[in-house]
Amino acid sequence: MVSPRVLGYLGRAMSHELSAVQQYLTHAGLAKLWGMDEVCEHFRREALEEQEHAERLTNRMLQLGAMPNASQLTPVRAGPSLIELLEADRLLELRAVELYREAAQYCALIGDTEDRALFHGLHDEELTHAREIETWLDRLRREYALAWNR
Ligand SMILES: [Fe+2]
Ligand SMILES: [Fe+2]
Repeated sequence: MVSPRVLGYLGRAMSHELSAVQQYLTHAGLAKLWGMDEVCEHFRREALEEQEHAERLTNRMLQLGAMPNASQLTPVRAGPSLIELLEADRLLELRAVELYREAAQYCALIGDTEDRALFHGLHDEELTHAREIETWLDRLRREYALAWNR
């Protein structure tokens, strides 16, 4: 029998991933409106990755006999510039890292190796997302600082 708390983590994770899909699709759309085609493509790929995470969670829930039921998505955070979009995405990814860290730790504690592996894998991928965004943000901020001082 799967622990109700593990099912709770799976449910929260589903809500997170679907919210992330919504946010990245929105950021892709904004980038397109701003004429930033490469940035748009980048956000579209992110949305697909988050959708694949939702798929992994869906399949695990079905294996456990549970139906995915995410009914509350987090509202999209955006802003008037690429830096603000990336800052919002950084927060989104850090929240996911925290959720998956806690979920993996709990599964380890109760000896649920399969769900621990699932959450741990997702944790590492979200951490990579967060770090990529931080690198991108650092670069953009340096470029703006240089342009400002010219
Ligand atoms: Fe994700
Ligand atoms: Fe992510």
